[in-house]
Amino acid sequence: MKGNVIVGQSGGPTAAINSSLAGVYRTAIERGAKKVYGMRNGIEGLLEERYVDLSEHITNDLDVELLKRTPAAYLGSCRFKLPEIHEDQSVYEKIFEILEKLDIEAFIYIGGNDSMDTIKKLSDYGILTGKTCKFVGAPKTIDNDLALTDHTPGFGSAAKYIGTSVKEIIRDGESLVYGKGLVTVVEIMGRNAGWLTGAACLAEGEDCEGPDMIYLPEIPFDIQKFVAKVKQLLEKKHSVVVAVSEGIKLEDGRYVCELGSSVDFVDAFGHKQLTGTANYLASLVAGEIGCKTRSIELSTLQRAGSHLASRVDILEAQQAGGAAVMAADEGDSGVMVVFERISDDPYQVKTEVKNVHKIANDERVVPREWVNEEGTYVTAEFKRYVRPLIQGDVSPVMVDGIPRHLRRPFKC
Ligand code: F6P
Repeated sequence: MKGNVIVGQSGGPTAAINSSLAGVYRTAIERGAKKVYGMRNGIEGLLEERYVDLSEHITNDLDVELLKRTPAAYLGSCRFKLPEIHEDQSVYEKIFEILEKLDIEAFIYIGGNDSMDTIKKLSDYGILTGKTCKFVGAPKTIDNDLALTDHTPGFGSAAKYIGTSVKEIIRDGESLVYGKGLVTVVEIMGRNAGWLTGAACLAEGEDCEGPDMIYLPEIPFDIQKFVAKVKQLLEKKHSVVVAVSEGIKLEDGRYVCELGSSVDFVDAFGHKQLTGTANYLASLVAGEIGCKTRSIELSTLQRAGSHLASRVDILEAQQAGGAAVMAADEGDSGVMVVFERISDDPYQVKTEVKNVHKIANDERVVPREWVNEEGTYVTAEFKRYVRPLIQGDVSPVMVDGIPRHLRRPFKC
């Protein structure tokens, strides 16, 4: 590489996003980039000229290893939507002025479907105005909802955390016997895609039957049927565990979480904050059946649990970052790195790049055939798909009994 590289992190953080950052950094240096800059808070920070020279902060191999084990966005993240090019060119002029000043040859953005919108617009503007800078996306999202890729870095670690937590919740529920029984509703992230919620099935094994029901957002949720199923289950067992997506909706399109005391926050991409589904359903069941209930929102913990990260996920995240730099160095722009699965057993994948126009703003959901007919559990195909992605561990560096992270010395 003759020029410099700039990298940003965007959207919801994950336990693996910093491993992609490590991959970008290492590969850029190996390929001869003089400087690797990091945008603080993604494109939003870059517009305010907030960036750092990463070589001042990642100084040795231990820093790289700690970075890979540090959850959340080391550089800070953002949910910032660039205007359409024909609406406001001044934003693009400003960004390209900064990129030219920093002699940027490759712009790498680690993010999900909304973040790929940024890559799409910047590469389009670059082509329109004859710029040479290359724009490449590295996939990231716990939601696993990016089109054209088998899966996304961040998903495997979150899935592992969810499977483990649901198993621990099931164990806990088996311990105490309450009068009419105990119903635990576990709320899992993923917006309109049920990949993460489906991962609750990973609790299943020789020593555990797994959760009793799993409700994905792809299938309309019927409250009456749900309560009836819970009643039936309580006739046979004293503890029922149900995994629900934060994004489950009624037939009429209303989110279940909106039936309770919902939060009105909407982000720059028009996504409503989804929270309170488990709380609503647990109160409803308590009222209808009179049993003890508990609602558990896995919330931030499911995407920040790097102590339980999947080794496959952390390594693939790093690989995705490296592949993004290589693609830019080889002249690709307006593309995102994708994973193509070659086989499940032994698990094998390869990376390639795909046109970001076909990925940005799209949502890949769980196929209907991967959910049982009743819409209350995932099938064997789903389990076969997800199992390889949670394999292996990454030992945290423990200091004083707590995992050590790479600390960000700058403010976001
Ligand atoms: O897109 C990733 C994600 O974790 C979704 O699963 C979730 O709905 C959303 O981000 C939450 O975003 P925030 O942390 O901004 O509330």
